[in-house]
Amino acid sequence: MIASRRFEEKVALITGAASGIGRAAALRLAAEGARVFGHDLNAEGLAETAELVAGAGATMATRSGDISQAAECRAAVAACVDTFGRLDVLGNNAGIARADHVLDVTEEQYRRMMGVNIDGYFFTAQAAIPHLLETDGNIVNVASNAGLMGQAYTVVYCMTKGAVVQLTRALAMEFVKTKLRVNAIAPSGIQTTLSDNFHIPADVDGSLMRPYMGFRPMGSPEDIAAMFAFVASDEARSVHGAILAVDRGVTAG
Ligand code: NAI
Repeated sequence: MIASRRFEEKVALITGAASGIGRAAALRLAAEGARVFGHDLNAEGLAETAELVAGAGATMATRSGDISQAAECRAAVAACVDTFGRLDVLGNNAGIARADHVLDVTEEQYRRMMGVNIDGYFFTAQAAIPHLLETDGNIVNVASNAGLMGQAYTVVYCMTKGAVVQLTRALAMEFVKTKLRVNAIAPSGIQTTLSDNFHIPADVDGSLMRPYMGFRPMGSPEDIAAMFAFVASDEARSVHGAILAVDRGVTAG
C-alpha cells in the first residue's frame, strides 16, 4: 500500500510510459498525487497506462512520438508544460536493447540505439531544464547496470547506458549551484517487454555473460518505480549526481 503523497501539486513527464518501468513509474507517481504526462512511440500502450491512472483516480495526459528525434523531445516537453503549466520531474526512460555479436551490428541498428537511448535523453533533458529550474525540479535518468560494467554481446547498449551515466554526472556538475537535481537509476534484469524480447544469439559463449546475469530472480517494474518515486521526491533532496543501483547485487561483485 502506498501511504505517502509526495507529488501533490507536481507534474512529471515520463518517457517510455506505455510499458514496463515507465508505466510503473507513471502509476506510482500518480498514486502519490502527481499529474503525469506520459510519452511513448506506442500510442495504444500509452492509452492503457492512462486508463490505469484514471482508474486509480489520478490524471495523466499523453503524447505519442519518436523520442530519438530532437524536435519530438522539445515538442513533448512543450506539450507537457502547455497541458499542466509546469514541470517538476523529468523521467528519461524510453529505451531499446538488443544482443548481438558486435561484428553483426548494422549501422542502422547502431544509430537507432544511439538515437533512442542517448539523443532522446539528452534533448529531452535540454528542453526540460529551463522549466525544472523554475520549479526546483529534478531529472531521473533510467540507466542500467550495463552502463557500469562491460558486457559481451551488448556493446552498443553498454555504450548508450554509459553515456546516460555520464550525462547524469555532467549535468549534475553543471547545475550544482542551482536547486536542480539530476540522478540516475541503474536497474538490472527487470521483467518487462524489453527483457521478454531480449534474444541472445544461440552461439554465444555463455560463460562471458555469467558475471552480469546475477544470482537472484529478476525484479519487477514496481521495484524501480519505488526508487524512482523516492529519488524524484523532496525526501531525496541531498541526492544529486548519484547513480543508484537497483540490481540485486549484480554490480556489487
Ligand atoms: P519496455 O520495452 O517495457 O519499455 C520501454 C518503452 O520505451 C516502450 O513502451 C517503448 O515503446 C518505448 N520506446 C522505445 N523506443 C521509443 C522511441 N523511439 N520513442 C518513444 N518511445 C520509445 O522496457 P523497460 O524494461 O521498461 O525499459 C525502460 C528503461 O529501462 C529502458 O531505458 C531500459 O534500457 C532500462 N532498463 C531495463 C532493464 C530491464 O531488464 N528491463 C534493465 C536495465 C535498464
